[in-house]
Amino acid sequence: MPAPLIDNYQRLHDNLRLSVTDRCNIRCFYCMPEKDVEFVPRAEILRFEEMERFARIAVDLGVKKIRVTGGEPLVRKDLHILVRKLVEMPGVEDVALTTNGVLLAPQAEALYDAGLRRLNIHLDTLDRARFEEITRRDELHRVLEGIDAAQRLGFGPIKINAVAVKGLVEQDIVPLAQFGRERGIEIRYIEFMPLDAQNLWDRSRVLLAENILTMLAEGIGPLDPVPDPDPRAPALEYRFRDGRGQVGFIASVSRPFCLNCNRIRLTADGKLRYCLFAIEETDVKGLLRGGAPDEEIAETIRATVRAKWLGHEINQGERFVPPPRPMYAIGG
Ligand code: 5AD
Ligand code: SF4
Repeated sequence: MPAPLIDNYQRLHDNLRLSVTDRCNIRCFYCMPEKDVEFVPRAEILRFEEMERFARIAVDLGVKKIRVTGGEPLVRKDLHILVRKLVEMPGVEDVALTTNGVLLAPQAEALYDAGLRRLNIHLDTLDRARFEEITRRDELHRVLEGIDAAQRLGFGPIKINAVAVKGLVEQDIVPLAQFGRERGIEIRYIEFMPLDAQNLWDRSRVLLAENILTMLAEGIGPLDPVPDPDPRAPALEYRFRDGRGQVGFIASVSRPFCLNCNRIRLTADGKLRYCLFAIEETDVKGLLRGGAPDEEIAETIRATVRAKWLGHEINQGERFVPPPRPMYAIGG
């Protein structure tokens, strides 16, 4: 067994986020520009076999959990083929998919058959007009159909990711949580992070986890913190005291969880990143396409983890430099 992926701060890396495309079928403003999006040319996007090989090498180094992300991963219509390979890969304990849900209904069955169970669906609002305002597309109905289809097939756990932008989604906080309570879906509120393509982020536009918690307590009822079985999981979890439903907070801005970070990320164009906010990245595609042996790729992964910084500096004012890629080009 080769040495596990431990960085200079004793953090063990066993979690890989694999972005399969930078393309997306909607245009959430906190991620993408409205028009003239520059996508990576298709030939520069890794093929599934290349991703699978990378994943296998990472799994040999101790990666146990893989999350497939994008862009929107389901714009690759045959995603279930890759998912099956990952699910069946020896050493992989958990495969999850983050999707905006627009293309989920038609693909849900193939994904389920491929062995996928865990889904994170990105949805900020149940209001059609606000959905369109946020995503610049009128696709709410398809997302809801996707959620229905996934629940009918028996996917679980299903979680909903909602990005919390101040001055925009306040009215959606409680209805989303009610929806989650009815459906047995955990809503995860994610503090708006400086990863948008147009530099719109500003601290004053972050709806903080503690404010959301107050809104939920006032709008629905008391909540209690849930002790976390995995101290490295980034979400702070709360349960409604009446026993109906759970919510989580990814408080990246108000409570950074970098000290527990266990993730590495591979972008769709084959760059390895040790952090969502990393400035530097390591080219892996050149190795994959240039005939490098597994051991050389393994050493590149180790070296990237060794070079990992302590954490992002969103809270360090002037010191914070946003990453050169917006969210859709990194993979959430
Ligand atoms: N801030 C916080 N979360 C974001 N996401 C996309 N852009 C941002 C941002 N600027 C989230 C979406 C998606 C996940 C991949 O990342 O909720 O589900
Ligand atoms: Fe697409 Fe996700 Fe970015 Fe929204 S956040 S534009 S769904 S990649």
